[in-house]
Amino acid sequence: MKIIKKGTSSVEGIIGKNSFPQDASYRLSNFCFLHSKDDIYLAKLTLTSEVISLTKEEYSFLSEMKSVRLDDIEKAGLTELVKKRYIVEESYDEFVRYQDVLSITKVMQKKPRKGYAKYTILPTTGCNARCFYCFEQGMVAQTMSDETADRLVDYICETNAYNGTDKEIHIDWFGGEPTASRSIVTRICKGLSDRGVKFRSGIVTNGSLITPEYVEKMKSVWNLKKVQLSIDGSRDDYNVRKAYVNPALHNYDTVLKAIGYLADADIRVVLRCNVDIENIDRIDDLILDLKRELTDKGRKTVRLYFAPLHQSMAGDGIEVLMRKINKAYDRMEELGAGELISFPISNTFKVNFCMADTMDTNVIIMPDGSFNNCENLPDNHCWGNIFDGVTDPELYDRLKRPTETDEECRHCTFLPECTSYRKTSCPVTISHCARYEAIRNEYAMIRNYNSSDAEEGEDPC
Ligand SMILES: C[S@@+](CC[C@H](N)C(=O)[O-])C[C@H]1O[C@@H](n2cnc3c(N)ncnc32)[C@H](O)[C@@H]1O
Repeated sequence: MKIIKKGTSSVEGIIGKNSFPQDASYRLSNFCFLHSKDDIYLAKLTLTSEVISLTKEEYSFLSEMKSVRLDDIEKAGLTELVKKRYIVEESYDEFVRYQDVLSITKVMQKKPRKGYAKYTILPTTGCNARCFYCFEQGMVAQTMSDETADRLVDYICETNAYNGTDKEIHIDWFGGEPTASRSIVTRICKGLSDRGVKFRSGIVTNGSLITPEYVEKMKSVWNLKKVQLSIDGSRDDYNVRKAYVNPALHNYDTVLKAIGYLADADIRVVLRCNVDIENIDRIDDLILDLKRELTDKGRKTVRLYFAPLHQSMAGDGIEVLMRKINKAYDRMEELGAGELISFPISNTFKVNFCMADTMDTNVIIMPDGSFNNCENLPDNHCWGNIFDGVTDPELYDRLKRPTETDEECRHCTFLPECTSYRKTSCPVTISHCARYEAIRNEYAMIRNYNSSDAEEGEDPC
């Protein structure tokens, strides 16, 4: 047995090393995921994220083990896996142990200060693209007024966790298309700077309105550090899927140029390539264009990950799509664009699934100043606004309360990488979530095996 990816040391510390009850019967842990391909035999403990490689015999022993005595485990040379809890006593309650790890990790992470560390702000819900799949379809286009922007500056001054310290709060600009309301973003940023609030920002954008002049302002006034830019496949797919209001001005080529401007300004860019079964097979052209524009020109700050459309995640075809996505990462390597890969996999124990279960530290602010807790912007998740604070305390408490783990999730191998939040409360449904996680993990483990420092990417929420 050989460790090919180290586990999270804090979690390993909490679960501790197992002592060896001699008279117990042992079984494989629910959190042990096995995968073999060709002559490679691997196991991952999802509780700690450690990945190990095994011999064929060790792998067979683990795959077949049921109610095994310690003697037999010793004979198979796998005593270390009892210590590390890949193998556990039959009576061992892993869900209870998982909950212990969760609560201890939460306490360890608890911020000493009250207030928000992150604000996600929608300066507008209007957008110059009309993506056929968008979860915001049908939303009324609203743009923030100057008065609301000024009140928002006051609100951030009153509520941020780092008031009076040197630490920066984080602002994410979201929309609609946030760059369509650049003047509002600039107004808020200037207002904050004038009041001495330290902040850095990120933006989620389609990139079509970004010019070299604006990149300068984004760096100097917005203090922009990271851009997530949505891209929808190769040129023809992109142009049809985005369906820009003014396609002569805003299109695939405009956006490729914008990515170059951002890279030249040394801003970190993560391209989120939205895919489904229709566009994934034609992805080579996009990869080649990105290679020409980025890799070949020595532009180093851009990465790409593939995100299945929510509609595909909810459907039965997700397994086929996930395999095609894995193939697309392989194609990036084969076509010489491997350095652009940002492979999305949770490589650590997941305490919070997303911002919706970190309401203590994060808030989403709509153009009219109302609050939401979820980037998918469900209508019924608004509990207050920047003018009046909490207006619906009952809803606020309900949304903030930790959710019960779904019965099905309690026995899932991938629970530590997912959190129970997803199943019970998330508007993004994954029909075959365990298979989805398995396919992602199989691929990630082989990547871990081939290169022990495979990069961690964004999670396609
Ligand atoms: C709603 S957009 C708003 C920000 C900006 N206009 C943009 O294009 O990135 C935010 C992100 O949600 C993604 N998105 C919207 N609808 C989606 C869906 N049905 N499935 C997956 N991603 C979706 C978009 O691709 C984009 O990356």
